[in-house]
Amino acid sequence: MSIDIANEIDFDSQLALNSEATAALFLDARTANAWSDEEITDETLQAIYALTKMGPTAFNGQPLRITWIRSAEARERLVEHMMDGNKAKTLTAPMVAVLSFSTEWHSLMPTTAPHMADMMMPMFEANIESRTTSGSNNAHVQAGYFILAARAAGLAVGPMTGFNPAGVDAEFNADSSHSAFMVINLGKPAGPSTHDRLPRLDFDLATVTL
Ligand SMILES: Cc1cc2nc3c(=O)[nH]c(=O)nc-3n(C[C@H](O)[C@H](O)[C@H](O)COP(=O)(O)O)c2cc1C
Repeated sequence: MSIDIANEIDFDSQLALNSEATAALFLDARTANAWSDEEITDETLQAIYALTKMGPTAFNGQPLRITWIRSAEARERLVEHMMDGNKAKTLTAPMVAVLSFSTEWHSLMPTTAPHMADMMMPMFEANIESRTTSGSNNAHVQAGYFILAARAAGLAVGPMTGFNPAGVDAEFNADSSHSAFMVINLGKPAGPSTHDRLPRLDFDLATVTL
């Protein structure tokens, strides 16, 4: 286990998760760039979303929208808009998720936050900048939950922002108010990562206690 990068913390005494789960979610999980042929079932996609949606979002707004790209035809259309270095791995991944945020996420507040919909929905309706910022921020938070949910389902992920969002929106979001912000390859990795993990920032560099 690549425990050195985690600063030799005594996780056994500090964490509620067992060491197998901690390794699968954080310590051993690596970003994948090459894939085995193993298919991902619709039931697994359902399980990934069922976990993702439980993570907290502001106003319980849940702005994340996901387009699953399984077919070869949809994949070709997506890869057109990926940076060159991201094309091959996106073409070969068993599943690809295009993550977008809804710019109209507030319209579901009567369902997602009925106790404050009367007050907050008109405010967000009138303030496009505020609801777009909140939608983008919270969908990015949900992307983090998605990555951990996929790892919990035993998959590796390859998140990418190296693509043309306007092109992906024209291709997949033209009939909606969704805005693409991340593409995530999913699958079982072809083998171990071909490079060492890059350094992570130490506690003292990245945090301050006041
Ligand atoms: C939001 C986000 C965007 C990324 N975009 C790309 C990308 O466009 N192309 C790519 O090859 N890797 C991309 N990566 C992968 C990162 O470089 C990789 O996850 C990071 O170096 C950690 O690698 P590790 O999980 O193996 O430690 C992205 C990762 C994240 C989270």
